[in-house]
Amino acid sequence: MSETLERWQSRRAFILAVTGAAVGLGNIWRFPYMTGENGGSAFLLLYVVFVVLLGLPMMMAEIMIGRAGRRSPMQALAFLAEEADISRHWKWLGLFGAITVFFILSFYSVVSGWSIEYLVSAVNGSFVNRSPQEIGASFDAFLADPLRMTFNHTLFMLLTMSVVAAGIVNGIEKLNNVMMPLLYGILIVLGGYAVTTSGFGAAMHWLFTPDVSAITWGVVLNAMGHAFFTLAVGACALMAYGAYMPDEQSLPRAVFGVAMLDIMVALLSGIAIFSIVFTHGLDPSEGPGLMFVTLPIAFSELPGGQVWLGAFFLLLLIATWTSSINLAEPMVSMLVGAGWRRSRAAILIGGLVWLVGLLSVLSFSTLADVHWIGEMNFFALVSTIPPDIFLPVGGLLIAIFAAWKMSREAAVAALGVSPGAFRLWLGLVRYVSIPLTAVVLVTSLI
Ligand code: PHE
Repeated sequence: MSETLERWQSRRAFILAVTGAAVGLGNIWRFPYMTGENGGSAFLLLYVVFVVLLGLPMMMAEIMIGRAGRRSPMQALAFLAEEADISRHWKWLGLFGAITVFFILSFYSVVSGWSIEYLVSAVNGSFVNRSPQEIGASFDAFLADPLRMTFNHTLFMLLTMSVVAAGIVNGIEKLNNVMMPLLYGILIVLGGYAVTTSGFGAAMHWLFTPDVSAITWGVVLNAMGHAFFTLAVGACALMAYGAYMPDEQSLPRAVFGVAMLDIMVALLSGIAIFSIVFTHGLDPSEGPGLMFVTLPIAFSELPGGQVWLGAFFLLLLIATWTSSINLAEPMVSMLVGAGWRRSRAAILIGGLVWLVGLLSVLSFSTLADVHWIGEMNFFALVSTIPPDIFLPVGGLLIAIFAAWKMSREAAVAALGVSPGAFRLWLGLVRYVSIPLTAVVLVTSLI
């Protein structure tokens, strides 16, 4: 397959696309509830360390491979392996990435569907003057209704695949330009509100007072997986975007900005959500429902709360939309690279992901007690194993390929940095990121 000629229209477009991929459910929904389930500050601390030591250098590695290969992930890896005269089997890493994003997207779409439901409820004023107990009960009732969940899941898959079918460069650029800044605006308002609540102090204490005793291998593994998930690293999804990166752009600068923003969005959501949790005496380890229960409670007390709540879910929906487009792209571009029409590829992939997503839908009702591994039902399984294990394994292999295997000249050119900066990056990936990821994976799995 020859190289792709498609390019993001500007540097800004590339940065927005990567930001769109990174900022999503991971920051606003998963970060707070994972923090809640993993002891608060201990998790937060590890997550930031992993973002800096693993996430950043590996994100550069992944995008760099895409830019050097200028093809879909599998084909880029095959091409670069040929160029460096090493085993062609490296291309299977692209397939592993496609499998990873397949399972992630299947549950991602279901949870994004929840925000569609909550957007509509907010607009209808369903949460006005309701007690926290009633709001909690209405979430449980929603989860127990597979038809409503399937409807929202279907709608979200249609949204995602229609943009992917239209070609992402055109599709996403427009969406990102307007929506991402709005989302940050609302989060800042929410943060401002959190400061005025009585639980703010407790939330800050809980998030920012390091508690080393809460660190277990399980917490370490979850924090590492979450760092990969939130930055969208390890699934060859950013590799797919790197293929369209303009030639003259600085890769490290773009990546650094995205990672900082990603941390900020997570922190802001965490502060807002835990202030509400502590103000109302709710349980921080409530799990995946945390955001969907806490936010309606908080907004039901604010003047004009329903409007803010509706705006919040609308923007969350957009943030998840730009992430899910990134999740779908590596699978679709793989088929396009093999000669498929983009629209056909999008329909096939979308249909398959939708089907598997139904198992997640049913995990809250009919299949709730069907355990696949240990105590995990299907939703628990796909929302844990692919993010926390597949992504680090994928990231590890991507880093090994980038730092030890591919041709040095191709790497220097695609990373686009000075020789000194290149050596720094190479040293970091070879002697910090790769061993650290391997050690955490092996130890915590044993
Ligand atoms: N980073 C996205 C989020 O935080 C999820 C994602 C993971 C997207 C992997 C692409 C690849 O919601």
